[in-house]
Amino acid sequence: MARLHTALSDQLGLVVPIVQAPMAGGPASIELVAAVSQAGGLGSFGFAYTPPEEMKRQAAAVRAKTNGPFGINLFGAPLPSDVPDADQREALSAVAGYYAELGLPHPEPVRAPYGPDFSAQLDAVVDIRPKVFTTHLSALSGVQLGRLKAAGILVGASATCVAEAEMLQSLGFDFVIAQGGEAGGHRGTYLRDPYEAMTGTLALTRLLAKAVRLPVIAAGGIMDGEGIAAVLCLGAQAAQLGTAFIACPESGASQAHKEALLAAREDITTITEKFSGKPARGIANRFTREMQARNALQLVFPAQNSVTAKLRAASAKAGNPDFVAMWAGQGLALSRALPAAALIARLEAEAIEAIRRTANIVKE
Ligand SMILES: Cc1cc2nc3c(=O)[nH]c(=O)nc-3n(C[C@H](O)[C@H](O)[C@H](O)COP(=O)(O)O)c2cc1C
Repeated sequence: MARLHTALSDQLGLVVPIVQAPMAGGPASIELVAAVSQAGGLGSFGFAYTPPEEMKRQAAAVRAKTNGPFGINLFGAPLPSDVPDADQREALSAVAGYYAELGLPHPEPVRAPYGPDFSAQLDAVVDIRPKVFTTHLSALSGVQLGRLKAAGILVGASATCVAEAEMLQSLGFDFVIAQGGEAGGHRGTYLRDPYEAMTGTLALTRLLAKAVRLPVIAAGGIMDGEGIAAVLCLGAQAAQLGTAFIACPESGASQAHKEALLAAREDITTITEKFSGKPARGIANRFTREMQARNALQLVFPAQNSVTAKLRAASAKAGNPDFVAMWAGQGLALSRALPAAALIARLEAEAIEAIRRTANIVKE
């Protein structure tokens, strides 16, 4: 039986060169990570907002289900200290009407720290010793990288431009994830203005494959085996898919998010800072449209995430998509609600078929 593999997928211990993108905020559940890893792909936790003890609990739960390798991902963006009271008041009043509409009390001021302590989370990663660790929105210090590598962990990070990939190479990272402008979720940009680092997956994968010696994983808008075959042709050694896994029954995404993905017929995404304070691509909804139209103030990342947390949760619970952050990439209309193992098998078969079909284009 034909199989797909690359030097990087062999090094990561994968049966197929497919990475389920880490997805903080729910979708990358224990069940999804375990199912992908068991099926031979790299299941990945998005632990950006997860405290260390909970990280350990979830990692142990995956290990109880599979011996397959898995990855852990964190956001290394620095956390701000308390934001000024005047900004708080304006940001809270911008969303207060929505809170009232859902029957929630007036939103409370938010206080630092706005997320778990990054160094305590990294300690937990070293304890857990996953096969792979990646960062988003940042690189790492030499000391942090050294600790992870000394624990035998392969370390990568998202890059949205050549400068970021070159920096990761100079620091000693093991691989780089080319996050194209099509990608769902937060832009991983940390060296440039994120709006000026929006190169598409096709161009970015090629640029990074030529600019650095590190293996490249391509991410952004890849939804099927045809997309995987395309990025392998461009020189990527694996494909990282986020949106494609959201509709899987094992994913922890809200029902509203899954239904919106499956109903989409074309690209209905937008890039917004209104949910979290940093630009992220998701399905345009009432919240993104109205907040944008009113030019409403948002707090810095991730303080704004705290401002919208209860609103997002209540909206998801009510099955109302209006105020849910439904991160998704531009290929969302190609979503399939298949169990993760069936999806991985389908992705691999499609990629092999696409590569064979493409070979027929060549006339000897
Ligand atoms: C719901 C969602 C959450 C995401 N959360 C994270 C995250 O926590 N860490 C990360 O590195 N990337 C995250 N991303 C971005 C992915 O790593 C990847 O770049 C993106 O999914 C690729 O584009 P695609 O969604 O079109 O496949 C997220 C993407 C989505 C769709």
